[in-house]
Amino acid sequence: MKDDITNNPDLHHELLGRNKVWSEKMHRENPELFTELAKHQKPFFLWIGCSDSRVPPNQITGTEPGDMFIHRNIANMVVHTDMNLLSVLDYGVNALGIDHVIVCGHYGCGGVKAAMGEEFEGLAANWVRHIRDVARLHRDELNAIDQEEAKFDRLVELNVAEQVYDLSRTVVLREAWKKGRPIKVHGWVYALSDGVIKDLGITRSKYDPEKGSVMIA
Ligand code: CO
Repeated sequence: MKDDITNNPDLHHELLGRNKVWSEKMHRENPELFTELAKHQKPFFLWIGCSDSRVPPNQITGTEPGDMFIHRNIANMVVHTDMNLLSVLDYGVNALGIDHVIVCGHYGCGGVKAAMGEEFEGLAANWVRHIRDVARLHRDELNAIDQEEAKFDRLVELNVAEQVYDLSRTVVLREAWKKGRPIKVHGWVYALSDGVIKDLGITRSKYDPEKGSVMIA
């Protein structure tokens, strides 16, 4: 959206107008689309991503309405007691039958950056504590990196890896795997600088009771 319209008190009208244009265009290109989507959803992917406005899941993956079941929060976290995340995971895996779960972080993540700085006031500080725990868990590796930007990038990757690990410990996934479901949990990082997603190569496809820590090759 252009800066010159952002001071408009009726800015939300802009969205409604654009929606009209979009729905008409979609209807023209695929007259059956909305009729089909109104009947049911059968998404192929469950996306767990950051709330950051610069990382819109459907746009960056070239997917359409109906392709992705989506959960977003600050810094794409999988918090063990987050009923919102757990409900989305349960519904996605057990009701919608999704076999591909993707945790997608992004370089330059404000939530991760906040976890590298001083403690701060405000509600979000509690959320960021989970990311500070990731940093503490990987303290030795992070302290060995001199360059601040490289350290930041690495914490973004380690944070995704930890969320993939945490997902693999959820009751939802352990039980699904026990039943023989071929579910894969992928860990990706999106680069704001060029719009490219990097696969961290840490995909988990089974319950592995041996692994107590996360490693990235
Ligand atoms: Co972010």
